[in-house]
Amino acid sequence: MTIEDELQTTIAAITQPGKGIVAADESLPTIGKRFAAAGIEVTEENRRAYRTLLFTTPGADLFLSGVILFEETLSQRDGDGTPLPQLLSRRGIVPGIKVDKGTTALPGAPGDLVTQGLDGLAERLKAYKAQGARFAKWREVYGVTDANPTPLGIAANAEVLARYAAICQGEGIVPIVEPEVLIDGDHTLERCHEVSEAVLHAVFDALHRHRVLLEGVILKPSMVLPGKGHPPRADPEQVAAATIRVLRRTVPAAVPTINFLSGGQAPEEATANLNAMNALFPNAPWVLSFSYARALQDPVMRLWAGRAENVAAAQQAFHHRMKMNSLARQGKWLPEIERTG
Ligand code: 13P
Repeated sequence: MTIEDELQTTIAAITQPGKGIVAADESLPTIGKRFAAAGIEVTEENRRAYRTLLFTTPGADLFLSGVILFEETLSQRDGDGTPLPQLLSRRGIVPGIKVDKGTTALPGAPGDLVTQGLDGLAERLKAYKAQGARFAKWREVYGVTDANPTPLGIAANAEVLARYAAICQGEGIVPIVEPEVLIDGDHTLERCHEVSEAVLHAVFDALHRHRVLLEGVILKPSMVLPGKGHPPRADPEQVAAATIRVLRRTVPAAVPTINFLSGGQAPEEATANLNAMNALFPNAPWVLSFSYARALQDPVMRLWAGRAENVAAAQQAFHHRMKMNSLARQGKWLPEIERTG
């Protein structure tokens, strides 16, 4: 199989109708914070138990085409001794892997960050692939103020994302390209629109310059939203119109699929916004789906609370959120269905 065939096979599996991705790739500090907030003891065993709960949820294979894992999870096993990536692939769910090493300040661009982890990436990808990973994820973050992101921040982050994507494709791994414009702050939806457009424009320019095969990438953007501190929240029709407008201006139709992050939206809000995009723009040139972490997992983690007796209830909650987002990915979700299931 050529590398291009390999990438296409993964893209075909990920873009199956009605399905999306769950990001279960929280780094050790992040999962630690989320566990602590849900009153769960932060141990390796609890991380293993929690992620096993997610991946063994009955019916998950109806709604999920992919799961993004953290490095530690790649070598963990379920209660029967099956490696977790294998458990997923046996269910027809493609395992992926977060490969970036988090952010650091970008010198020369006060207030902007840049993501680390390019050194040795090709070698790490070979090892992850041997453990079953078929796609990867790399996140660049853009805080929004009147001055940020700066032109330098936008250019540097785009360059890093493109280098990462090119390295992945060289190893036959599909890159999730994730430029996240943060929801923090009191900026308007219009300011988020302006920043998102500049960011995506630079990202696709860099992908082109680095000869990344657009047919073999997954874009994971943030939605165009007002900042968290800028009430009231925008309604789903507004979010959908602004987000699709930015995407149409910046993302070539060659990109097969756009899988949004939830970015701090409430679970139902992230579902309603995705639904509005699919309902109002059924002829968009890309699949419009999800790659949520918090909007799929928050209710699940709270219900589980680290107790074996809560596993069934937590899995039910996970099933419900996956099902709601599967409907949203088809533009078939309605607020009433949230309560009737
Ligand atoms: P959220 O959906 O919680 O924003 O997380 C998605 C993700 O993978 C961030 O990198």
